[in-house]
Amino acid sequence: MKILTVGGGGREHAIITALSRSPKVEKLYAAPGNGGISAIAECHPEVKATDIEGMVSLAKKLKPDYVFVAPDDPLVMGMVDRLNEAGFKTFGPKAKAAVLEGSKVFSKGLMKKYGIPTAEYETFTDPDKAIAYIKEKNSYPTVIKCDGLALGKGVIIAEDEAQAVNAVKSMLLDGKFGKSGSEIVIEEYLTGPEVTVLAFTDGKTVKPMISSMDHKRAYDGDKGLNTGGMGTIAPNPLYTAEKQAECMEKIFLPTVRAMEKEGRPFKGCLYFGLMLTPGGARVIEYNCRFGDPETQVVLPLLETDLVDIMEAVWEERLVGLDIKWSDKACACVVMASGGYPEKYETGKEIKGLDAKGQYEGVYVYHAGTKIEDDYLKKEAKYLTAGGRVLGITAVDKTLQGALDKAYGAVKDIAFEKAHYRSDIGKRALESGYDLI
Ligand code: AMP
Ligand code: GLY
Repeated sequence: MKILTVGGGGREHAIITALSRSPKVEKLYAAPGNGGISAIAECHPEVKATDIEGMVSLAKKLKPDYVFVAPDDPLVMGMVDRLNEAGFKTFGPKAKAAVLEGSKVFSKGLMKKYGIPTAEYETFTDPDKAIAYIKEKNSYPTVIKCDGLALGKGVIIAEDEAQAVNAVKSMLLDGKFGKSGSEIVIEEYLTGPEVTVLAFTDGKTVKPMISSMDHKRAYDGDKGLNTGGMGTIAPNPLYTAEKQAECMEKIFLPTVRAMEKEGRPFKGCLYFGLMLTPGGARVIEYNCRFGDPETQVVLPLLETDLVDIMEAVWEERLVGLDIKWSDKACACVVMASGGYPEKYETGKEIKGLDAKGQYEGVYVYHAGTKIEDDYLKKEAKYLTAGGRVLGITAVDKTLQGALDKAYGAVKDIAFEKAHYRSDIGKRALESGYDLI
């Protein structure tokens, strides 16, 4: 089987690595791909992940059996719809289902209509009405969110009235987030640990994967700006079997059924961003795709062939598939360019990797790298090419063991101004998880 994967980050490297383990796979392609992915898949950097027509043309040329669309933008823009019209099988939701991530106004409305637990909220397009609502509620912190996609930056937690009013103005008046911020959601601030649960669904059946925990802030102790994710662990020890049962009954099944009822069956990977509040689990956000860097710690624990799952989702027979998971733990430490998520430099040489961009005993998932394009050089040289550069990922019997392996490799891998958090998994270990 030939598979084309759309995307070029650490998540896609983890997906392609999992696909490469399948005995069914003969050839893997990626567009655009990246330096690390090129060691296991033929990359097509000339086609950007958001170039829908370009991707359809590439698929016509490569004739893959499946196209795996991994990132949010092409899914929300309808890449799966176009590929299906052109006769290709795909993994990923159509645009009318991807709206679950593409519009928070839609997803909040769906949750309200079907009684799926989430933060209380109101939506606004008129800044005066939004500000009047904030003043009337007079409860802080309060959470202000853009309706549409905003590279993870469209959520502002306002600590007081001035910050809340500024947030509303930046979105509805100043157009800081473009069209994504032309409608906003103002919602109740919730507290509690966060859990990510990715789930396979074919539109009718939902099969949750192993849970995970992201570390979103840039610096140790959850300080600094929000990032795309500085590290992850799986499973998430705070997500007990009891919580899983509650989420299945109150969130996962109702969501998939609601989408089917609305005529928007969701096929692919549905991302549940959950908060375990004192009043029960609540949905913080849905994403219409695998998380990054959650995928990097979840897929190494998958024992079932990902190609078998992809086929079962496409053919809507997930109900009959038994998906097996390892009982080990996995940890991913992200090495980023100094300055990320703000300004940073690229083009720095990465030292400590072998010719395939790997390091023995761990998975090195490349997020933002490229290979130096000097064909006269015998040895491949990897250069930094993004904010998040590498996700150093290890599996072990215990979380402590996985973290030790990952941090051991991190010490040997270097590039100028590399930055990483040194406390990934610390909170989970403190919860006593590894004592079992
Ligand atoms: P989102 O993009 O919706 O996941 O929001 C980004 C981050 O903002 C989440 O991971 C939470 O840490 C935080 N957040 C979002 N909504 C809320 C809320 N209602 N209460 C508290 N924190 C929130
Ligand atoms: N790690 C958060 C996300 O993928 O949206």
